[in-house]
Amino acid sequence: MQPSISAIEAKFEAQKLAFGPIYFQAIVALRELKILETIAANRKGIKLETIASTLNLTVYGVGVLLDAAKNADLIHIDENDCITLTKIGFFINSDKMTEININFVNDVCYEGSKYITDCIKNNKPEGLKVFGEWDTVYEGLSQLPEKVKDSWFKFDHYYSDDAFPYALELVFQDAPKYLFDIGGNTGKWAKACCAFNKDVQVKILDLPSQIEMAKKNMEANGLLNRVDFHQTDMLDKFQKIPMGADVIWMSQFLDCFSAAEIELILSKVHEASSDATKVYILETFHDNQKFPAAAYSLTGTSLYFTAIANGNSKMYSLKEMELLVKKSGFKIVKTDALIGNSYHTLLTCKKI
Ligand SMILES: C[S@@+](CC[C@H](N)C(=O)[O-])C[C@H]1O[C@@H](n2cnc3c(N)ncnc32)[C@H](O)[C@@H]1O
Repeated sequence: MQPSISAIEAKFEAQKLAFGPIYFQAIVALRELKILETIAANRKGIKLETIASTLNLTVYGVGVLLDAAKNADLIHIDENDCITLTKIGFFINSDKMTEININFVNDVCYEGSKYITDCIKNNKPEGLKVFGEWDTVYEGLSQLPEKVKDSWFKFDHYYSDDAFPYALELVFQDAPKYLFDIGGNTGKWAKACCAFNKDVQVKILDLPSQIEMAKKNMEANGLLNRVDFHQTDMLDKFQKIPMGADVIWMSQFLDCFSAAEIELILSKVHEASSDATKVYILETFHDNQKFPAAAYSLTGTSLYFTAIANGNSKMYSLKEMELLVKKSGFKIVKTDALIGNSYHTLLTCKKI
């Protein structure tokens, strides 16, 4: 935002935020009702009445949504009332990342975000009650309604999937034999490791319900001879991590915890590490991004942690994580900002 913004412009920006949630729902409707898709399919433009008759909707219904679309700069209307998509409309209609973010916000975050004030007051993810009575989303992940679960996993996987190819090359440079994946979830990284290196063994550590899902996936992929499992609550200081790992891998995991919890987890990782163990932390740090859209989205994701996930974690800055890692008795031997279509940074750490 320019510091030279006028009072009129500032007031307009304030109204955009005031009406933001309704505009957001209008955008969801424009996508779900295929209005944007219909406009995109007509490169030379299409009239409101034609959109309504093509989609079997009322002129009123399409009209109010298009008024919103015009104000949000999604469409252009020429002097003959022909409607085309703008660049923003193009991204809202057909960009994969935008689709994943819209579905995540709508299905997972929208309803629960009404409770953000209570979350801050009570230090709890009060928004999670719209789905069930759990302390954190991770306990209820496998029981979420199908659509919510689908949007949650697509959001999680979309970002980590893009980071994996380059991360695999870095991690396997010194051919680890036994890799522990803490917060291994459905086993996507374990599967990628087994495909990348024919000798590596992987142990997935996670909460019981995720271990069940991971086991099924590994069985379906014929990997039960390469992957083993360890049910654990990483927040229980009495539940230790087994010894024996060449690599301890944590991807999009530490952002699920508060700073104090990260220190506890890293102290357990420290205890389970030998001098040779390499500890990798893969995260999307909001202060280490190339594009402002990424920093903006990551800060929005922090509010999901506040309202839905656990009420005490967030997307961290690289600076904050470096401090926590050092405080826990590790040195960071390498910091790799991942290349390709990735927003991640990989920290390679070793026990001091
Ligand atoms: C955001 S997901 C990350 C999944 C995967 N590593 C990736 O990169 O896509 C976080 C994972 O941490 C697990 N997790 C959360 N709290 C945990 C806890 N207290 N103990 C063990 N695992 C936990 C969740 O079940 C989930 O599988």
